[in-house]
Amino acid sequence: MAANTNELNALAAKALDFISEGAVVGLGTGRAATVFLHVLGEKVRAGFPIRGVPTSLESERLACELGIPLTSLDEVDSIDVDVDGADEADPAGNLIKGYGGALLREKIVAAASRRVVILVGEEKLVPVLGSRGVLPVEVIPFGKGACARQLTSLGLNPRPRMREGQLMLTDNGNHILDCDTPTISQPEQLEAAIRAIPGVVGTGLFLGMNPTVLIGSSAGVIVRGPVG
Ligand code: A5P
Repeated sequence: MAANTNELNALAAKALDFISEGAVVGLGTGRAATVFLHVLGEKVRAGFPIRGVPTSLESERLACELGIPLTSLDEVDSIDVDVDGADEADPAGNLIKGYGGALLREKIVAAASRRVVILVGEEKLVPVLGSRGVLPVEVIPFGKGACARQLTSLGLNPRPRMREGQLMLTDNGNHILDCDTPTISQPEQLEAAIRAIPGVVGTGLFLGMNPTVLIGSSAGVIVRGPVG
């Protein structure tokens, strides 16, 4: 079952513990990240100084509305803490992201962050990546057909993501191919094979980032991964 409002609020409050005064914070995208943005905005409006790097136009718009000052990876060398959601998290902290379509900017921000904090409900915990059956892949529009054929030859079943009857456009002007996938026993190899396809600009596999995963449950927030 998806995390409920109380669990999301508890996750967002716990994530604040990881944000120090003056920090540069990656601002994730999606339901959990939105709740976090609201609690962060409240703290900022009370005088807590941070700057945010948004992972999507949606989180940029919300951050502006909430009074969170923004910066960018052109202006800062690195991000102190990135706070985002995920669609799958395995026991080692490897993730699948991108059901919300912001995977590319989310990965750029996560890769530039000293610490990644992921907010999930228990339904996102999987024994093996791919358990929920979908891996999003972002491709440039010109390469959509060619990329789809090559993804098919890797044993994936790519379906172009649609929105309101049209091919969905990401914030980067690209398309997403949602690949039906069996469970992924060798994610690094699959990531390398997909990234080698010309026209692919990103996948939803977030590997080896050693995130702190905050898990919302009826018993409270469970912390998995580094805390110090
Ligand atoms: C956006 O592209 C995604 O990666 C989200 O971070 C992910 O889908 C989790 O979102 P929710 O918190 O809405 O489940």
